[in-house]
Amino acid sequence: MTTPLVIGNWKMNMLASEACHLAQSLVDMSVDGVDVVVAPPFTSLYAVSQIIKNSRLGLAGQNFHSETKGAYTGEVSLEMLKDVGCGYVLIGHSERRQLFGESDADVNKKVHLALHMGITAVVCIGETQEQRASGETLSVIETQLQQGLVGLSGESITHLAIAYEPVWAIGTGLNATPEQAVEIHKYIRNFLFESQGFSKKIGARIIYGGSVTPENCKELLREEEIDGALVGGASLNFESFYAIIKSSLEP
Ligand code: PGA
Repeated sequence: MTTPLVIGNWKMNMLASEACHLAQSLVDMSVDGVDVVVAPPFTSLYAVSQIIKNSRLGLAGQNFHSETKGAYTGEVSLEMLKDVGCGYVLIGHSERRQLFGESDADVNKKVHLALHMGITAVVCIGETQEQRASGETLSVIETQLQQGLVGLSGESITHLAIAYEPVWAIGTGLNATPEQAVEIHKYIRNFLFESQGFSKKIGARIIYGGSVTPENCKELLREEEIDGALVGGASLNFESFYAIIKSSLEP
């Protein structure tokens, strides 16, 4: 059985004191059988890492530069994230793609770096409303996977997760239905393990993101194809994030 993965993406929210407070509540909840990860803003990573260091809670960076060091004012390298305790990184979140021009080629460079450094790459993919309406969803997903994962062989992959996040569902309150999510998760699974021939032993998890709430998480997470959730808004509050974490453990 796959251990569910539930990630809280805090985006550009919470000051360090608030981030530490929430991290402490999550450490105190002591839930087994699910990998819970938080992705605070850069400014809180170190402080949060000190709070979670003897716990099962994981730490993720929300982004990093694809170069390893140098004159890139305002940027953060993957080694810096690893240094403050990140075992996971989000790559290619739709907000990075849409607002900051991140391309599939950038995603690919970052995935290689992360896997090379033994950090779990959480690669985010998903279609816009227009692409869904014009029947392009599967081809968009395939292109993002193909270009984002180019050059990876089954052996080079240690840890990988794919987050299917339809752009129209992010922060809108409009989640994908379980049927819509399952269709895409199956497609992704087939791409990884059949078309690309990645070994199932790598334990790549395929998680869903986009307006996941305590109300809709049960029907989504009960689907066998959905290995967990990438949660934005509902991860900023302990009660709602905890409810989602608990749901990931229900049969
Ligand atoms: P949301 O964000 O849960 O607020 O829709 C999800 C995400 O952007 O990862």
